[in-house]
Amino acid sequence: MTSIRKSLLAVAVLGASLTLQAQTHSFDIDLKKVGAPIQPTMYGIFFEDINFAADGGLYAELVKNRSFEFPNALQGWKSFGNVGILEDGPFDRCPHYARLKDPGHKDKQTGLENEGFFGIGIEAGKDYNFSVWARVPDGGNGAIRIELVTPASMGENQFFTQDRIRISGAEWKKYEVTIKSRVTDPKAVLRIFLEAPRATVDLEHVSLVPADALRGIYRKDLALALADLKPGIFRFPGGCIVEGTDLDTRYNWKNSVGPVENRPINENRWEDTFPYRLYPDYYQSYGLGFYEFFLLSEIIGSEPLPIVSCGLACQFQNDDMSAHVPVDELDPYIQDALDLIEFANGGTDTKWGALRAEMGHPAPFNLKFLGVGNEQWDSIYPERLEPFVKAIRKAYPDIRIVGSSGPNSEGDQFDYLWPEMKRLGADLVDEHFYRPEAWFLSQGARYDSYDRKGPKVFAGEYACHGTGRKYNHFHASLLEAAFMTGLERNADIVHMATYAPLFAHVEGWQWRPDLIWYDNLRSMRTASWHVQHLYGEYKGENVLNLRMNGAAVTGAAGQDGLFASAVKDGNLIYVKVANTSDTAQSLGFNFTGLKKNDPGVKAVKRVLFASDRLYEDNTLDEPDAIAPVEMPFTGSGQALEAVVPALSFSVFVFER
Ligand code: AHR
Repeated sequence: MTSIRKSLLAVAVLGASLTLQAQTHSFDIDLKKVGAPIQPTMYGIFFEDINFAADGGLYAELVKNRSFEFPNALQGWKSFGNVGILEDGPFDRCPHYARLKDPGHKDKQTGLENEGFFGIGIEAGKDYNFSVWARVPDGGNGAIRIELVTPASMGENQFFTQDRIRISGAEWKKYEVTIKSRVTDPKAVLRIFLEAPRATVDLEHVSLVPADALRGIYRKDLALALADLKPGIFRFPGGCIVEGTDLDTRYNWKNSVGPVENRPINENRWEDTFPYRLYPDYYQSYGLGFYEFFLLSEIIGSEPLPIVSCGLACQFQNDDMSAHVPVDELDPYIQDALDLIEFANGGTDTKWGALRAEMGHPAPFNLKFLGVGNEQWDSIYPERLEPFVKAIRKAYPDIRIVGSSGPNSEGDQFDYLWPEMKRLGADLVDEHFYRPEAWFLSQGARYDSYDRKGPKVFAGEYACHGTGRKYNHFHASLLEAAFMTGLERNADIVHMATYAPLFAHVEGWQWRPDLIWYDNLRSMRTASWHVQHLYGEYKGENVLNLRMNGAAVTGAAGQDGLFASAVKDGNLIYVKVANTSDTAQSLGFNFTGLKKNDPGVKAVKRVLFASDRLYEDNTLDEPDAIAPVEMPFTGSGQALEAVVPALSFSVFVFER
């Protein structure tokens, strides 16, 4: 524990004795009236393939351009000897494959080397499942040798793991072998050599996946970091990625299902968006496709919330109306949305339900929510949303539809779109706000005055972008925690909230802050992750009314930077308090609505989240430097006290 954490602990434990030095505030928490239910979907996650979040991230595949489908078929590969690329392979939507032929000299080699995503991360003692589709085009027998190699090493024995695979016959077959790594190297490469008898061999869909990948699909540490959040809702696959740079590169979910070998690649929307962050090798393999998203939702216990294209290409990138689908030509897009619902929920006797079953999931995924469009704006959005709403309502009246309020947290578009969403009968409206500290500090009461009769709120993308410090740091996460008390207090209208974006590879990011960072072997949960975790862990079932001098605690003038909310969870009560001021403050908790002789509540514990590294975050080297600590918290009765240190977030747990 760092020295500051020790002293914060001391301040918090010695709360009562500090009361005289610090300002006293009194929270009245009404135990008589139980407020709005907190939706199971309240806190969740938003996944977008940005920052190498899918390929090179959550998708456990270690081989880049595994099917030779990038426009430059050998991007990510080095070839040596006699290698050619052909395009009449066994998978019609991924037709390219590599042909390895005898180099013509016995002291020469033919083969391929894959660089992975910023290298291939390999750990000593761990197993890796290698597979490849292959054939000997002329029939007969051939062979390949596969090696995991550390290119940095010198000398004769660069490889540290090696195996030989015999290939036979002119039919395409899948060959599989498990290899164990003897060393740890975050930047290994995979080599494939043509071996004696050096018969010509064709290779397609070369794959290497850690044997410990969850279900053979998801990188284990990253999937665990999601599951630990206990997310109630899982929004995917974007973000702008849904819209695409143009309609051709939009996320077409139908390309992301069926056998992985036959999913056509897509150019990633974030490939070359920022001049200082160019990734010409950023493509979507769709290995992490809609089936895998639905499956992950099920594994981590979230409700899936897919977003489909509404026929608008990314509005940031396209000013011309010709970039978008005309309203009277939307039918195929609407059909895609309806087919997606069938894919998720349809019987196995339906076309898309049958495909789901074929992929391994005969039972429906029980989809309840569907977003149409990402953060769209202007009248061109409602014009397109309307026919989607009509068609979805007609075919699937129970599906709840999520519309957009545009990219801004307020302003003309926001003011125009909310009433439009209400007019169209959207069930939820997705709000996005990447905003600086001052904005977060000013928004504690944001939802207090929202129309209770309109659509519900989905805070679908938000993160505190520090002013001049547009990156993850503890202070930004504290302000997110403060803001979230307002989401919680308004649980009657706020039904979902997801931080954004979710993942970032340290060598391949385009956007920050992000919730979880990683390299090829390690991952780190940010301070913001811990805030999300605390809200997920202490979500509760119903809101309780908490007041200070008769007012909600929203960081308003005179409230000394305090933000607070309270919830009930069975016989437990969780009170969340963010102290955004630089002064420790003593608090009184008065539990009201009780009879005079009622024993009141018992303090169980408190969880304190604080750090002296105000503008820093955890790192891959120090992943746990900033994390909440559980502390004793004792006492009982109708009135209790505690001190909240300066710049801290606490969850107080009481038992009734
Ligand atoms: O999360 C990054 C981007 O931010 C998303 O793609 C978009 O919806 C928002 O503008």
